[in-house]
Amino acid sequence: MKVAILGYGTVGSAVVETLLKNQDLIKARCDEEIIPVIALARSPKKNALIPVVCDIDEILEREDIDVFVELMGGIDLPFELISKILKRKKAVITANKALLAYHRDELEKLAQDTAFGYEASVAGGIPIIKILKEGLSANNIFSIKGILNGTSNYILSKMAEDNAKFQEVLKKAQELGYAEADPTFDIEGYDAAHKLLILANIAYGLRVKPEDILIEGISRVSDEDIYFAKEFEYTIKHLGIAKIKDEKIELRVHPAMLDKDKMLAKVDGVMNAISVYGDILGESLYYGAGAGGKATASAVIADLIDIARKEKNSAIFGYLNDTSYKLLDKDEIYTRYYLRLKVLDKIGVLSKITQLMSEHQISIDTFLQKSKKEKEDCSTLFFITHQTYEKNIQILIQKLKEQEFIKSDIFMMRIED
Ligand code: NAP
Ligand code: HSE
Repeated sequence: MKVAILGYGTVGSAVVETLLKNQDLIKARCDEEIIPVIALARSPKKNALIPVVCDIDEILEREDIDVFVELMGGIDLPFELISKILKRKKAVITANKALLAYHRDELEKLAQDTAFGYEASVAGGIPIIKILKEGLSANNIFSIKGILNGTSNYILSKMAEDNAKFQEVLKKAQELGYAEADPTFDIEGYDAAHKLLILANIAYGLRVKPEDILIEGISRVSDEDIYFAKEFEYTIKHLGIAKIKDEKIELRVHPAMLDKDKMLAKVDGVMNAISVYGDILGESLYYGAGAGGKATASAVIADLIDIARKEKNSAIFGYLNDTSYKLLDKDEIYTRYYLRLKVLDKIGVLSKITQLMSEHQISIDTFLQKSKKEKEDCSTLFFITHQTYEKNIQILIQKLKEQEFIKSDIFMMRIED
């Protein structure tokens, strides 16, 4: 089976290297040689293991290619290329979650009975797509909750373990090949949202776009939040959450405080983990490297092996799930909240804040005031609330912003119980 690799970067080069290194083992497992014959990049590659060209037509023209593996990134160009290739009834594999978050349905429809695999698009090497489509296919999925972005988890872990600085750890994550070409996708939560939408589409048939859901990243999490979390036995993790609530689907992506003893709270570094709760199985948890060339190559090659085996399994063939589920409105999210605010340290401030909280049906569970430093006139206050609706918290934040004693942005984080 001849394969073209469209994109010879972190993942593309790892796929080629692994196909060559494990060629005998792969052949034994699918009774066919899988040969990477040509790759595409924007600039020539001196030490590449296979010929790398910069003109896509040189690859598309070749009739002998059986599978095209898209590992370029971006949305519009890969959409155009993959559509063209699927129309020619040639198999496609992609790791491109941004593309799939916007165009998966159209591409699945185009593919019909042509293989179209995207295991590598969610949670790096963890075979979560296969798990949802096959292993858990008897279950009504009540919830999916996961650490879906390796870069964010790596940054949060290093900040908590080694007091490392955000920008320095982000740079390291980029050097290690974990981050997206534009790392704002990682640190502002979009990458995790793209992955969550793919999972929610498989589990619930939900067809919504990233713009429709609540997305927050880790860029505003500070040393102070990490300090507070440690003091009160929480761990901060960036989570993607999909769950059924009142016959609707709640979808959200944001940093969250978790009880430090929960299993997801113990997942550190570039690791991802996904907890799936099904009506028959109950909870199951999947753990593994969520980013990096090798982890992602492992998932890409698993799809290639499935294609070589010529099995008509649902992991690489269409799985469009039609349901009548609607998205839960963001205002109806109901959870506990953490708030950090810097205020003028003067009489009446705390009582005004608690008065505003009670006017908006918000009850305080935990409170901490950090002693101010000498010569400073501001204090930092930390609150954890009891459960309340998102709309109440959002109104409270608006009201607080109008107060003259508020001296910096108010930071809010949800607690995941
Ligand atoms: P990368 O290191 O930036 O590699 C991208 C490759 O595609 C490069 O070789 C680049 O060429 C080539 N390319 C990009 N645009 C092109 C264009 N217009 N024409 C021709 N070639 C083009 O990216 P990556 O980290 O390997 O990620 C690739 C894909 O996998 C992305 O969709 C990403 O979201 C996804 N993914 C990545 C990871 C990970 O851990 N890195 C994990 C899962 C999924 P040049 O080398 O000449 O720039
Ligand atoms: N940038 C992504 C991450 C790559 O850090 O999780 C894996 O999808």
